[in-house]
Amino acid sequence: MIYSRIVGTGTYLPEKVLTNHDLEAMVDTTDQWIRERTGISKRHIAADGETTCDLAEKASRRAIEAAGKSVSDIDLIVVATTTPDQVFPSTACLLQSRLDIHGPAAFDVQAVCTGFIYAMGVTDSLIKSGSARCALVVGAETFSRILNWQDRTTCVLFGDGAGAVVLEASEEPGIRSTHMHADGAYAGLLQVSGGVSNGYDELREATAFVEMRGAEVFKMAVNTLGRIVDETLAYNDLEKSDIDWLIPHQANIRIIHATARKLRMSMDQVVVTVGEHGNTSSASVPMALDTAVRDGRIKRGETLLMEAFGGGFTWGSVLATY
Ligand code: ACO
Repeated sequence: MIYSRIVGTGTYLPEKVLTNHDLEAMVDTTDQWIRERTGISKRHIAADGETTCDLAEKASRRAIEAAGKSVSDIDLIVVATTTPDQVFPSTACLLQSRLDIHGPAAFDVQAVCTGFIYAMGVTDSLIKSGSARCALVVGAETFSRILNWQDRTTCVLFGDGAGAVVLEASEEPGIRSTHMHADGAYAGLLQVSGGVSNGYDELREATAFVEMRGAEVFKMAVNTLGRIVDETLAYNDLEKSDIDWLIPHQANIRIIHATARKLRMSMDQVVVTVGEHGNTSSASVPMALDTAVRDGRIKRGETLLMEAFGGGFTWGSVLATY
């Protein structure tokens, strides 16, 4: 049996930090409202001219170094992003060129906040089928570019960043299962409605930026993440107590608390970065994973449950032995 094993992780956050107090000067909000409703106190924002690929490259180099690999070992690149540098080539192809890798497949996956989970699912299948042996899987976003900075209901929630993982074929576990779902009927609750083929309306603001019916998304996220946890445990014939670490998508601390309660897990076993990173969409899970690997909390042999929910709606999970 071939497994794909996490052999290295990396993060990159842009230098500029935007605090809740900074936001108080930009929109009608307060530090207290943002912290109480979301758990966020600050987020990182890409500098002018700094792109998703710039962030992805730095996170990738750190993951490759942590894995003890060189760029010549990488035989597949999958980038999850909602905020690509260009319409095409894909950010994965741009990243491949930056890393001076030539030949292996490189492509983007777009599943908004669930993008990294989808990218892990696809990559795991390609490794198990023998199509790749050492893959770079990245979640990278410059969400700040698709925010309406006059809309207090969305602009306080998101941040920029990139997380990367090197997955290698191994006889030792390994990713044990991946679960991917979507229901496009809910597209209207969370979207950027303008785009290449749809066009943008004359007042660009109306369709080029994130629109969200927050309270409805919140309810769906809590219920759906509860179901994906049950599905993942049942598929692997595991009890709640078998999970050592929950590495959730970092959208809102209240959603994270609800999933931890569902798993009857202490918050000491939940990796939480939302306070410092905000919601970085597809970058949030790999950055949280990297944070807890580098600070020594997550150890080899432990069982990790990663999960996410996002626009689409999309949702999914990865169960892995680290
Ligand atoms: N500062 C101050 N007040 C605000 C702000 C703000 N930044 N934003 C909204 N409010 C006000 C609202 O106008 C409303 O006022 P009203 O009662 O006078 O109408 C009040 O606060 C409450 O608004 P709600 O939207 O009901 O607040 P809620 O408790 O639901 O929190 C939030 C809003 C944080 C957006 C929450 O609904 C949430 O986290 N939703 C889910 C987000 C998410 O998980 N997204 C998923 C993935 S993202 C992706 O895929 C891209």
